[in-house]
Amino acid sequence: MEPTSLSGRKILLVISGGIAAYKSLTLIRELKKLRCDVKCVLSGNAHHFVTPLSVAAISENRVYSDLFSLTDEHEMGHIRLSREADLVVVAPATADLIAKMANGLADDPASTVLLASTSRILVAPAMNTAMWENPATVANMDLLRSRGVLQVGPGEGELACGDVGPGRMVEPSEILEAIILALKTRGALDGMRALVTAGPTYEPIDPVRFLGNRSSGKQGFALAAELASEGAETILVSGPCALPDPSGVDTVRVETAEEMLAAVLQRLPADIAVCAAAVADWRIDSQESTKIKKDTGQQPALSLIENPDILATLSAISDSRPALVVGFAAETERLLENATDKRRRKGCDWIVANDVGPKSGVFGGDTNTVHLITDKGSEAWPTMTKVEVARSLVQRIADHFAPQ
Ligand code: PMT
Repeated sequence: MEPTSLSGRKILLVISGGIAAYKSLTLIRELKKLRCDVKCVLSGNAHHFVTPLSVAAISENRVYSDLFSLTDEHEMGHIRLSREADLVVVAPATADLIAKMANGLADDPASTVLLASTSRILVAPAMNTAMWENPATVANMDLLRSRGVLQVGPGEGELACGDVGPGRMVEPSEILEAIILALKTRGALDGMRALVTAGPTYEPIDPVRFLGNRSSGKQGFALAAELASEGAETILVSGPCALPDPSGVDTVRVETAEEMLAAVLQRLPADIAVCAAAVADWRIDSQESTKIKKDTGQQPALSLIENPDILATLSAISDSRPALVVGFAAETERLLENATDKRRRKGCDWIVANDVGPKSGVFGGDTNTVHLITDKGSEAWPTMTKVEVARSLVQRIADHFAPQ
């Protein structure tokens, strides 16, 4: 094992209420020795086995143990906590917590961050043999594995209750090996480089005013997070928005369309480009260097000039064009007709058409209803959350690059 192999990696350790929780302290110490950032969440019962104070002292981070703590929510909401991690490790994972995970329950900090998490999850089960072999637990673990949850252990041997059999949480050294393996496991886009644009652009009118739009960045940020979790080295170039940087994504913040284009071109080459940004089509021809005054007696006349088209520029690059260029089409009428035409005019390979009419709630909302248009035609996808749209699109991208 390389001593620096986990340097800077973010681990969220969920400790549930089992006797094996004392071993988690050793695991935290080993992770800290490898210089990774460990944040810990205690389930409702974990504090009976380890104290938040000892976990905080060893992890050198605050410990999250109260779902409704105002301080915790203020400093790091449970949603952000659950998404920032490169890997979520549940050790020990009791039968109760495994059942909650399988059934989507969220009634304490541990089950809540697990339900909200979009990161990979590794569980180290720990329980009595009869509980481990109970058909309910067997079915719950089958379900979790089918959803991509990783598992280490349990080991066999003498259990705390005196029984002998499977159910013992494996030693921290074995969990550590599983963590290293999970962090190194290759995704479908491993070794590829992806560029994503997201959010609006702001085009200044004068030092205090700008032309902008209602894009929140949610769709583009979700795409960047999914590309990164499939192993692509991902660069996200975003216009002004309130979202935090997605974990494992190199995020570049810009303001104007011209800055966005420069940032994108500077970061080529890339294998994949996904343009989800709502780039302003025009900017003000000559910006005022001082605030335009209202009391001049004249209405200001704004003269607009066209902005560069980032998607069209990327699609037309002769030497370093990304192998797959995906655009979005935001339409309020004749969705398929306009989007198909846009795909042809801009020269991109695929276009994702979404209806952004006033009733759709797509700008700023959490769901999207899209059509994917490729050279093979168009397909309608059902309404999904933006994260699910991102997951489906990234799956299609992975299929596109998969060896035939
Ligand atoms: O950010 P959210 O609130 O989550 O909303 C998501 C979204 C509606 C912004 C997103 O799903 C979406 O549709 N993004 C594209 C918005 C847009 O500007 O569409 P368009 O039809 O005007 O542009 C077509 C394509 O050209 C887009 O890929 C756009 O990024 C690109 N473009 C447009 C103009 C320009 N100057 N440069 C570009 O790259």
